[in-house]
Amino acid sequence: MAKKDWEHGIIKVLLTEEQIKSRIKELGEEITRDFKDKEEEVIVVCLLKGSVLFFADLCREIKIPMKMDFMTVSSYGNEFESSREVKIVKDLDENIMGKHVIVVEDIIDSGLTLKRVLKMLGHREPKSVSLCTLLNKEARREAEVDVQYIGFDIADEFVLGYGLDFKQEYRNIPYIGIMGAFDGDE
Ligand code: XMP
Ligand code: MG
Repeated sequence: MAKKDWEHGIIKVLLTEEQIKSRIKELGEEITRDFKDKEEEVIVVCLLKGSVLFFADLCREIKIPMKMDFMTVSSYGNEFESSREVKIVKDLDENIMGKHVIVVEDIIDSGLTLKRVLKMLGHREPKSVSLCTLLNKEARREAEVDVQYIGFDIADEFVLGYGLDFKQEYRNIPYIGIMGAFDGDE
C-alpha cells in the first residue's frame, strides 16, 4: 500500500503559516508589554504536546527575561464529562511560588482540562497565572476559564496541524487545517 501523503485528510486550510506568524508576533508584544515591568520572575509553561510549536514560536516574541517549563497532563473523560479526572503525567521542574506563570495551550475546547490545571497550579501560590491559547472554540465551552490571550476564535470544527494531532500524527503540518471524514483504514 502506498504511504499516505502527510496532508492526507485535510480538506481545508483554516489558518496559514503567515496568519499564525503575524498573530503570534502580536501576542508576544502584548505579553511583553504586560510583564516587562514586573519584579517577580516570569515562567512560561508549555502544555505538552499540542502547544509545542506555538510555544516555541511565541517564546521568541516575548522579549523579557523568562524561564520555560513543560507539563504534561492527561484527562480521562467518562459519561459524566464534568467529573473528568486530570492527572499530571509530567510536572513542572520549577517552583512557581511567588512567580508569574503564563500557561500556553494549543486549543481550549470544553475548558475542563484547563480549569483543573489552573486549580492545581493555583494551590502552589504563584504571584499570578495567565492563560494564552492559540485557538479558542468558545461554542464548546463547559467550564468557565479566564483566558487573557487568544490567538484565534474558531468555529466548532476538528482542526489539526501546527502541533495539533489526530491519533498523534499531523503535528508537523506548518499550518492549521480542518480535518475531513476519514475512510475505513484510518
Ligand atoms: P478541553 O478540556 O478544553 O480539552 O476540552 C482541550 C484539549 O482537547 C483537544 N482538542 C483538539 N485537538 N483538534 C485537536 O487536535 C481539535 O479540534 C481539538 N479540540 C480539542 C486538545 O488536545 C486540547 O488540548
Ligand atoms: Mg490532542
